[in-house]
Amino acid sequence: MRKLAIPLLLLALALALAQRYFTEEELKRIQEGGKAYSEVFINQRPDQALCSLHKNRLPAELLPKFIEEQRALIRYPADGKLMGDWRKGGAIFNNLQKANCFSCHFGSPVHLGGDVGPSLEKYGLQRGQSEAVQRYTYEVIYNPWAYFPCTVMYRFGALGGLTPEEIADVVAYLLDPESDFNTKPAVGSR
Ligand code: HEC
Repeated sequence: MRKLAIPLLLLALALALAQRYFTEEELKRIQEGGKAYSEVFINQRPDQALCSLHKNRLPAELLPKFIEEQRALIRYPADGKLMGDWRKGGAIFNNLQKANCFSCHFGSPVHLGGDVGPSLEKYGLQRGQSEAVQRYTYEVIYNPWAYFPCTVMYRFGALGGLTPEEIADVVAYLLDPESDFNTKPAVGSR
């Protein structure tokens, strides 16, 4: 009996969570998918499950709450500085095993960038270094779902891939006018 208690408790918890996030109608659709499907579904994070359910295009009425919840996940560096050390940021941006940003974004002076995401070529020269730009860039990297719900870009801070300090270093790599990213030509640029 003891052995059953914990799985039962977890199941009840998962169901309670699911009920918080899904309407009756959505829950019915999940359950209609069969037992295996609903289990996979329920074991996803609730926000990921919501994206899956709507094939990554959330209906307009769900957006405000979703965005608010994604914003609430964002944490900032202890010293409050959103721009760190651009050299360290470059090592993170250009490392396949670390953030791998270049695989999706054009603009790196080290690697030929991909085109899954928008080009970031000379990002800091285009946008400047205002407080608003620093904050936007930091927050997009920390949790892109706060700006682009369900996007394929990894949620580096929210899922724990990068620390707040590492994200601030990447922000500096993109924004600092002295950074290689802004002073050297992007690989592949014409
Ligand atoms: C799996 C692909 C992928 C990876 C990896 C990725 N991104 Fe993105 N990124 C995107 C996409 C796609 C968008 C556009 C959002 C959308 O419209 O869905 C985006 C948007 C952005 C934006 C906003 C651009 C603008 O014009 O406002 C910034 C800044 C950015 N990414 C930086 C980064 C950084 C820095 C990294 C690495 C730490 C990174 N991205 C890794 C796919 C990716």
